[in-house]
Amino acid sequence: MGLLSGKVAIVTGSGGGIGREEAIALAKEGAAVVVNDLGGTRDGSGASHNMADAVVEEIQKAGGTAVANYDSVATTAGGQGILKTALDAFGQVDVLVNNAGILRDKTLAKMTEAEWDIVVQVHLKGTFCVTQPVFNHMRERNQGGSIINTSSTSGLEGNFGQTNYGAAKAGIAGFTRCLALEGKKYNIRVNAIAPVALTRLTEDLGGFQDESLKTKMSPAHIAPLIVYLASDLSKDVTKKAFFVGGGKISEMRMVRTEGATKADGLWTPNEIANQIGTILG
Ligand SMILES: NC(=O)c1ccc[n+]([C@@H]2O[C@H](COP(=O)([O-])OP(=O)(O)OC[C@H]3O[C@@H](n4cnc5c(N)ncnc54)[C@H](O)[C@@H]3O)[C@@H](O)[C@H]2O)c1
Repeated sequence: MGLLSGKVAIVTGSGGGIGREEAIALAKEGAAVVVNDLGGTRDGSGASHNMADAVVEEIQKAGGTAVANYDSVATTAGGQGILKTALDAFGQVDVLVNNAGILRDKTLAKMTEAEWDIVVQVHLKGTFCVTQPVFNHMRERNQGGSIINTSSTSGLEGNFGQTNYGAAKAGIAGFTRCLALEGKKYNIRVNAIAPVALTRLTEDLGGFQDESLKTKMSPAHIAPLIVYLASDLSKDVTKKAFFVGGGKISEMRMVRTEGATKADGLWTPNEIANQIGTILG
């Protein structure tokens, strides 16, 4: 018996990179998996069936159960199509991993509206488009569920040249915290990860050409956390964000400092300046 025997999981963007490892690991633990991938390039252009088909074949060859879906996460029709593939093939969904993503890096000064729109659409709107129908299915089925969203240190800590991506990824973290509250009474857990791994999204970053780093930063290192969050091993864990990569797993928190209080609330700018050390904590 695997940790996920009898469960059904959807992994978006699982035709390559981190998502592929997640889909394979979920299937290895007995989940039937919907391998969704649009099959485009790293900047979101193009489409093909090859990427999703290859991962389905890999899972099936290893004795697992999987079906492909080629819809884009970035439209409501795509999100509904992904759920339909799961229901047609397996009749239920227990686990959703929102992983699909693209990059269009530019400094804000040089960013076009199109570069802003497509990144926000795939990541942030894509998370909404797939999660809403799946969440409603889980609610109606009343058997609980686990939703795992993919944020990023770019959104939670900041990264040069990624205002579009960072805004979308911080939005996904906020979406996660709010939906975790809405899911509580249905036993639907909602968590986020901020992964770091060498994939086609990060292959042009300095240092990643080093062979030992390639091993250390393998996308396979992300998958065990996903299996944990998908399974009943994490039954009390919700509304959390985890950093994961290079062998390390840690929690990423929003922090409100102790701060300073003025009884009448009427701070002067000079008083704020005098207290700024306490306010920043
Ligand atoms: N690699 C990292 O270090 C890192 C860091 C932080 C966050 N992430 C996030 O992890 C996730 C996976 O990234 P990765 O590094 O494996 O990159 P990747 O390019 O290998 O994987 C992303 C996958 O999403 C698919 N995809 C893109 N647009 C899609 C759409 N509209 N519909 C369906 N599928 C679509 C792509 O075809 C691709 O297979 C992304 O959300 C990314 O932002 C990665």
